Amino acid sequence: MSISVFFFLLFLFVSPSFSAFVAPITKHYVHNTPFYTLKVQLKTPLEPTFLLLHVGATFTAINCRRNYTSATSRPVPCNSSLCHSLQSNRFIGNKCDTASGKAAVPGGCVITPNRSFALVDSLALPATDGRNPGQIHTFSKFVFTCSDESSRLVKGHAKNVVNGLAGLGFSNYSLPAQVSTNSSVFALCVSGSPSAPGVAFFGLSKPNYFLPGIDVTDYLSYTPFFSYHNGITNKKTSKRLEDSYFIKVKSVNVNGKPIIVHQKLLTTMISTTNPYTVLERSLFRAVFNSFKKESRIMKLKLIKPVKPFRLCYEADGLLETHLGPTVPSFELVMQNDIVWRVFGKNSMVRIVDEGLDVWCLAMVDGGTGSVPALLLGGHQLEDNLLQFNLGTKTLGFSSSLLQYKTMCANFNFSTNNNIKLF
Ligand SMILES: *[C@@H]1O[C@H](CO)[C@@H](O)[C@H](O)[C@H]1NC(C)=O
Ligand SMILES: *[C@@H]1O[C@H](CO)[C@@H](O)[C@H](O)[C@H]1NC(C)=O
Ligand SMILES: *[C@@H]1O[C@H](CO)[C@@H](O)[C@H](O)[C@H]1NC(C)=O
Ligand SMILES: *[C@@H]1O[C@H](CO)[C@@H](O)[C@H](O)[C@H]1NC(C)=O
Ligand SMILES: *[C@@H]1O[C@H](CO)[C@@H](O)[C@H](O)[C@H]1NC(C)=O
Ligand SMILES: *[C@@H]1O[C@H](CO)[C@@H](O)[C@H](O)[C@H]1NC(C)=O
Repeated sequence: MSISVFFFLLFLFVSPSFSAFVAPITKHYVHNTPFYTLKVQLKTPLEPTFLLLHVGATFTAINCRRNYTSATSRPVPCNSSLCHSLQSNRFIGNKCDTASGKAAVPGGCVITPNRSFALVDSLALPATDGRNPGQIHTFSKFVFTCSDESSRLVKGHAKNVVNGLAGLGFSNYSLPAQVSTNSSVFALCVSGSPSAPGVAFFGLSKPNYFLPGIDVTDYLSYTPFFSYHNGITNKKTSKRLEDSYFIKVKSVNVNGKPIIVHQKLLTTMISTTNPYTVLERSLFRAVFNSFKKESRIMKLKLIKPVKPFRLCYEADGLLETHLGPTVPSFELVMQNDIVWRVFGKNSMVRIVDEGLDVWCLAMVDGGTGSVPALLLGGHQLEDNLLQFNLGTKTLGFSSSLLQYKTMCANFNFSTNNNIKLF
């Protein structure tokens, strides 16, 4: 046997099988407010589809009332086991419907409370080895609901950009649960730049290579996450939050000094649909006062705040590094004493407007008694790798990748067709 045949056989033998998938995450703006979408392929023939990234949603919800044409879409029959399973997945009721509306199907499976219909269609994503995307793989039985939920979450012209929302919540019918063939892990890396997409990995805990050849999973620290089975309600919006990911924060430090809060552990939610971090009022006040005091010591020049923010500084007076403006630093100390460091790039947002150039503390007051006490929004998550392991219920976080001279936009999206699913 010649050497080359031997190597060819060896290659066949060890040719790796990947059951992991990848998708770009794009940052958009509407009236200066950012939102993020996940790009997938949907329908037959496949169509690029931009879904609002929603890390807490139980189901993927597609705006299919308007114009949904696909050769492979089919409703879920009401008396099917799939329908029963969908309905028991958090929502009460066992309804069949003949209601009006384009997506209404006699005897179709309705998911209460919002009377959205369940549909099945093809969804496709490229396979990945953690370095590049590869060949496209089609999931022919992807389940989603037919609803305009995403339209309520994005405003104005953004509605034309977004075709629905990507449900990444802690549920058996979330997008990661349906596309992960055998590993219940997914990771998000949201880019800070609208012109260079970040990336989501499904079913791959390691490696996640970013240029120049850094496996960013090496930088992950882990803390337990939990979700609410019976649901908690955000009093202000009366939105149920049960399929979101929550972590426990023991202490919030500003320039290394812990701020005083009444709660022993702060219930903290990860959100990709809130652009900025939201704090319950007493926590917000404590952070506000502490940050203001520390910034005075650093001789930063306060300026009239720009709404919705409350603390802004002249950009002129701030030193900038690759980690953003030099401002008091934040540390979130988790229940297991692991620390998430937050630098200026994630804690501050730059606002440039006619004659105005300021950096504002990118946190907003949620009001008295708002639930959860602390909500980490999109801006704060940018250029951080977040890895959710649904099996072990742990969240891995990297803190800012800018520390390691890489960023979320550095995944190499050039297709390598040797990467395929076996
Ligand atoms: C519906 O979608 C099809 C193909 O995606 C397109 O050709 C058609 O113009 C759309 N119709 C409306 C009313 O938007
Ligand atoms: C569902 O209902 C249809 C029509 O009533 C019936 O033909 C079918 O056998 C039912 N399927 C199940 C799984 O009960
Ligand atoms: C259901 O619809 C109502 C009103 O349109 C909305 O406030 C609520 O958030 C929706 N709930 C879900 C789970 O979509
Ligand atoms: C998925 O379904 C299984 C079996 O019904 C259940 O034990 C598990 O808790 C579910 N997982 C989630 C995330 O809902
Ligand atoms: C996933 O499936 C592949 C191929 O069947 C197998 O080699 C691999 O060990 C599985 N991984 C896990 C985490 O179960
Ligand atoms: C990106 O990936 C492609 C395909 O594997 C490779 O040819 C190219 O060299 C990579 N780019 C960089 C900058 O490494």
